[in-house]
Amino acid sequence: MYMKQILISRHGNSSVLETIEKPLPKIEDNEVQIDVKAIGINFSDILIRKGLYPNTPELPCVVGYEVSGVVEHVGRNVDKKWVGQSVIALTPLSGYATKVVVAQQYVFPKPECLTFQEAASIPVVYLTAYQLLVVMGGLRKDESILIHNVGGGVGLAALNIALHIGAKTYGTSSPEKHTFLKKYGLHHAIDYRNFDWLQILNEKTHGKGVELVIDPIGGNHWKKSYRALCSTGRLGMFGISTVHGTSRIKRNLQAIKSIVRLPKFGPLSLMNSNKGVFGVNISILWNEIEKISTWMNTLLEGIHEGWLKPHVDCTFSFSKVAEAHDYIENRKNIGKVVLTI
Ligand SMILES: NC(=O)c1ccc[n+]([C@@H]2O[C@H](COP(=O)([O-])OP(=O)(O)OC[C@H]3O[C@@H](n4cnc5c(N)ncnc54)[C@H](OP(=O)(O)O)[C@@H]3O)[C@@H](O)[C@H]2O)c1
Repeated sequence: MYMKQILISRHGNSSVLETIEKPLPKIEDNEVQIDVKAIGINFSDILIRKGLYPNTPELPCVVGYEVSGVVEHVGRNVDKKWVGQSVIALTPLSGYATKVVVAQQYVFPKPECLTFQEAASIPVVYLTAYQLLVVMGGLRKDESILIHNVGGGVGLAALNIALHIGAKTYGTSSPEKHTFLKKYGLHHAIDYRNFDWLQILNEKTHGKGVELVIDPIGGNHWKKSYRALCSTGRLGMFGISTVHGTSRIKRNLQAIKSIVRLPKFGPLSLMNSNKGVFGVNISILWNEIEKISTWMNTLLEGIHEGWLKPHVDCTFSFSKVAEAHDYIENRKNIGKVVLTI
């Protein structure tokens, strides 16, 4: 039996994504084999493809952290009741494929009310947003949050959770996304592409700032986000989108600049300003499956309770993966982009 995978064997633009055929891997005792129906795409897939991700895997590699599909076979130690179930699965670096084999503990029943596309769009962005806002950011109803790139996958998931908590929401995004975001519930949309977002935030908060900022831009931008915090404020750092430039030379320069300009947060200054900083990298937490499972089950309850609403911007067929990457790189997506099989 064969499956198709999308392989990256050299770093570069979307043309390096290559479809290959290979034999299905053997299923170990605790594993399940899934016939994949949809695959969630993340910005990190693009950074890995370009060789810009901090933990870039060795090449050749397959990217893809999340899929949905139907369980076809199970290993000896796995309950047979899984066979035929529609599921969501976490697939660290194996998701861009027509079949995946993963440990059963990474597999969750798909809520019936979700399409396969919606289901595949949930894990990475909602787990990241949950860790940022709830687990580490401790966002409360009487607080306010600034969500950078609120129109992206993590951004929209964070907005969904913040609105559910009842916090006041501020968000930066390209201006074309503002109408959608306001309709979704964002209280204050800030056009950071044409204006100084900190100045606008200060005007809107009367110089007070916000209790929580989540920042995927990185480098010097983290310094600026820290300045947006009021006392008791927390800054959650979780990405380095700033290294994503247009040319290879520019990208390398950006990467160097962003490392050189990393802020230094001193314990005494944090103490005296009553502020906190923390970092999130969900891809490194994948092994702590008990935590991840608890968060995932809480999020899936949100689907049943009716407040968690994943938003799939658009879908591309498996063979059009390069177009899907280009779409995201051109900043066109609002929420998630998904591949379908
Ligand atoms: N640490 C973690 O655990 C973790 C987990 C998931 C994602 N992340 C990071 O979070 C960030 C967002 O991820 P995502 O999957 O939500 O992204 P996404 O949905 O692909 O969002 C991309 C959006 O980011 C904005 N953006 C900001 N700088 C950009 C740049 N240099 N090039 C292109 N777009 C840029 C654009 O929106 P606007 O122009 O409208 O702002 C773009 O539409 C990435 O840096 C990713 O690596 C980290």
